[in-house]
Amino acid sequence: MTAPAPSLPFTLERIEEITPALEPELRALLEDTVASGASVGFVHPISAADNAAYWRDVSAALQQRRKIVLVARAQGRVAGSVQLELAHRTNALHRATVQALMVAVAFRRHGIARALMAAIEAEAAAAKRTLLVLDTRAGDAADGLYRRLGYSLLGVVPGYARSSSGVYHGTAFFYKHLA
Ligand SMILES: CC(C)(COP(=O)(O)OP(=O)(O)OC[C@H]1O[C@@H](n2cnc3c(N)ncnc32)[C@H](O)[C@@H]1OP(=O)(O)O)[C@@H](O)C(=O)NCCC(=O)NCCS
Repeated sequence: MTAPAPSLPFTLERIEEITPALEPELRALLEDTVASGASVGFVHPISAADNAAYWRDVSAALQQRRKIVLVARAQGRVAGSVQLELAHRTNALHRATVQALMVAVAFRRHGIARALMAAIEAEAAAAKRTLLVLDTRAGDAADGLYRRLGYSLLGVVPGYARSSSGVYHGTAFFYKHLA
């Protein structure tokens, strides 16, 4: 049986560095995601300085091989991204944290997040990371997505992070053992 064609063609790529050409695209993705009301570490509006500093940190982590970063491209631009932070303590070399799963508003509901998660899990397995942990705002789209992808809910910490609206919201913590 042939799989149905995706509604929107996109490609996934592991990036080794944040090039001068890529950096503004990643800043635009983060700005778009924060403006959509998502809980990804910033409240709306994210300042240009905070945005640039964030990607500088990611760039440093890439150089130090502390992170794996994937980018999705569609219609010639960055449509989404996800990161894997590799634990480095000697008792945790089997573990990694999935972070910053983001899909630009214009490209949502085309299976990009699902594909990014499958690809980051494959990267984790290749790096011999067999336990993944992650968190998201309780009740968000990502909350349902992670459950569908087989992540187990550890629990919800009430009032964990501040939303752009000023309300403090609960954050759901998940884990998954890769087979
Ligand atoms: C969560 C997010 C990454 C999903 O991206 P996406 O590319 O639209 O997701 P997909 O198209 O791959 O959807 C996969 C599944 O997730 C679920 N899902 C995605 N968006 C949803 C929504 N708005 N409402 C309910 N379920 C949703 C569905 O089960 C969907 O499968 P289906 O389309 O077959 O029903 C995107 O909405 C986003 O960037 N949100 C803001 C950032 C964020 O919250 N990140 C996670 C925490 S760091």
